[in-house]
Amino acid sequence: MDPNKKPVKVGLLGLGTVGGGVVNVLKRNAEDITRRAGRAIEVVHAAARRLDAPRICSTDDILLTTNPMEVVENPDVEVVVELMGGMRPAGDLIRRALELGKPVVTANKALIALEGGELFELAQSHDTLVAFEAAVAGGIPIIKAMREGLAANRIEWLAGIINGTGNFILTAMRDEGRDFEDVLAEAQALGYAEADPTFDVEGIDAAHKLTILAAIAFGMPLKFDEVYTEGISSLQQEDVAYAEELGYSIKHLGIARRREEGVELRVHPTLIPSRRLIANVDGVKNAVLVWGDAVGPTLYYGAGAGAEPTASAVVADLVDVVRTLTADPTHRVPHLAVVPDQLTDLPVLPIDQVKTAYYLRLQAYDQPGVLADITRILAEAGISIEAMIQKEAGEDESYLPIIILTHQVVESAMNQAIEAIEALGTVRSPITRIRVESLAG
Ligand code: HSE
Repeated sequence: MDPNKKPVKVGLLGLGTVGGGVVNVLKRNAEDITRRAGRAIEVVHAAARRLDAPRICSTDDILLTTNPMEVVENPDVEVVVELMGGMRPAGDLIRRALELGKPVVTANKALIALEGGELFELAQSHDTLVAFEAAVAGGIPIIKAMREGLAANRIEWLAGIINGTGNFILTAMRDEGRDFEDVLAEAQALGYAEADPTFDVEGIDAAHKLTILAAIAFGMPLKFDEVYTEGISSLQQEDVAYAEELGYSIKHLGIARRREEGVELRVHPTLIPSRRLIANVDGVKNAVLVWGDAVGPTLYYGAGAGAEPTASAVVADLVDVVRTLTADPTHRVPHLAVVPDQLTDLPVLPIDQVKTAYYLRLQAYDQPGVLADITRILAEAGISIEAMIQKEAGEDESYLPIIILTHQVVESAMNQAIEAIEALGTVRSPITRIRVESLAG
């Protein structure tokens, strides 16, 4: 067997929320991940604080230990994934892995923000690397977007909602009038919050992430100690309400901005106009708005915390690392994301097989039974109505506008129904039809 095609063996430090998510995603999407990385990726050895703790993943094929250094030192382990969090022992474990020349993937924002510079030097001197996409904004690939996608730009500023727990709390306080403590407890139960939740609500977690974002945006060293940090714990309900009245939303933002004299690095509650897209980022979602001189503003949005969103970023880093371990550096990132012999031909569905909901606007003759005819035709075609409005006819008009929103249906069924309605003779042709996408889930 080509040694470059053997599965890559991964050692996992931490089997909690994110660790469990990584194991599950690697297993569930094994086939696609192998096609993209060019090799299978297998977790072979994992360290957990307690071996008998309840887990969200199966550990059937994984050797378990309570000693994380054992995982790092295991000669079979080629890549180390650190998901324990905290400064110690995580930092020492990563340092040892790098000294052994093993690439490291980590979600540890505190460690990167405080000691990243030293870790990157160590990695470079041992001809290896530290990948940390999951350290900022959970599942949003913001580091890749800034480091690669925006590489042409001079980034002037960025502003982000980069703590999911804080945003979750602010949203529930605003929409449900709930107490700060009550919502925080829920965020902890859902696995969003840090081990020490004051990191979330006092802005320290956001400051860690802002430090990393600013370093990448401006090509500057990591300066966590110089970030101005204000939390949300003293925010009053009435300020949230008054801000709304004035057309503003209060968000806990991390802001990095170039000035002639230097850079601003700050985390604090901020009023932003409610019409801005970023003002509508609610719940545990994160978003980062980046302003580059060539591209202008770009906005990145998604889940900023939780098992699988964070695992999404960790596994993406793993795929990147595995690509660097293959023999063909020129084609490190395949043109179409999967290695060339793994492309699969998928049929593209014709439009009449597409499934979508519809907005219909009909001009119906104002006489008894017309609406019943229309709804009967829709019912016979298996089309369910979500909402309906009948407007008054204009003066001298014998036709009434009827607006119907339907549930999802296959396009061919809708075509037949529209044809049948148009054939009634009591509805003007053509019926206006616009497809509806909820874009949810
Ligand atoms: N506690 C963090 C948050 C987890 O709420 O955003 C993800 O870094």
